[in-house]
Amino acid sequence: MLCLGIEGTAEKTGVGIVRDDGEILAIKGKPLIPEKGGIHPREAAEHHARWIPVLVREACHDAGVEIDEIGLISFSRGPGLGPALRTVATAARTLALSLRIPIVGVNHCIGHIEIGRLTTGARDPVSLYVSGGNTQVIAFNQGRYRVFGETLDIAVGNMVDQFARESGLGHPGGPVIERLARESSGYIELPYSVKGMDLSFSGLLTAALRKLEAGAGLEDLAYSLQETAFSMLVEVTERALAYTEKNEVLLCGGVAVNGRLREMMETMCSEHYVDFHMPPPEYCGDNGAMIAWLGHLVYRHSGPDSIRDTGVIQRYRTDEVDVPWMSESPG
Ligand code: ATP
Ligand code: FE2
Repeated sequence: MLCLGIEGTAEKTGVGIVRDDGEILAIKGKPLIPEKGGIHPREAAEHHARWIPVLVREACHDAGVEIDEIGLISFSRGPGLGPALRTVATAARTLALSLRIPIVGVNHCIGHIEIGRLTTGARDPVSLYVSGGNTQVIAFNQGRYRVFGETLDIAVGNMVDQFARESGLGHPGGPVIERLARESSGYIELPYSVKGMDLSFSGLLTAALRKLEAGAGLEDLAYSLQETAFSMLVEVTERALAYTEKNEVLLCGGVAVNGRLREMMETMCSEHYVDFHMPPPEYCGDNGAMIAWLGHLVYRHSGPDSIRDTGVIQRYRTDEVDVPWMSESPG
């Protein structure tokens, strides 16, 4: 059976088609790149409304299937921006009703973890989920993905994006900062803030912006931001590993494409003799395939949602969701 997944929690529209055995047949995406400033929720919603029909057609073409061969519709019901989520949900309901097929609404964050497990073969990892909206250390325990630690203020991706925007580097900041960091000649001291398994990035952002104003070089600041933030991420992941006694680490979310973060995590994992997994870059950031694959898992264990239960959940927490498929094969 084929599931078509629609993603649109933030500024990227994604559509994917995945078979129930995990074969990914299509992954199409279209990011909204703002000319200046950040992402406006209404503009994100308009972007999704414009691109979902196009990407659905392109995904069917790539997969070599007709739309009526799709057997299940899955969509990200949260967490995310309200107007963006509602546009995605409306598109998903319209497709399911017109094709007369079942629908499931799924949790975006768990989508990142499940596509990571599918594409890397990780079984029961400590997951570090790092993106523009989220920074969480997650591990499966007693039927759910539990959040062992998370950011107490802004997400690491958001911190990097804000720094880039304020320095005139555009959006998204992650790739530019990574490139600039490679040209640095030295580390500039920045605040390092870890509390147990929780983290804080806003002080780091403010300090970096102050140093920029005071004349510090952009390359050195980019390097120092990365080294400080990523060391914090490695520390909390290491602590979660020790606590849970798991023997795998999975990196996921949009920031997981960063080469320096991958290198630092890999070093920590090899020091502890645990397996390190990182998905191919196209499955790290928001994409429709992760929603389609999670749709299969949810549908298989819990059946479809009724249309009246497909409302969006803007603050949908990772640990609110039962994950029965992990209880069957947790490790
Ligand atoms: P979520 O809803 O899960 O928070 P999101 O809307 O932030 O997702 P993602 O595609 O998961 O979307 O992540 C986007 C983030 O990844 C942005 O903050 C972007 O700057 C960051 N990013 C992208 N490439 C890199 C990179 N090379 N290094 C660091 N960060 C990166
Ligand atoms: Fe995401």
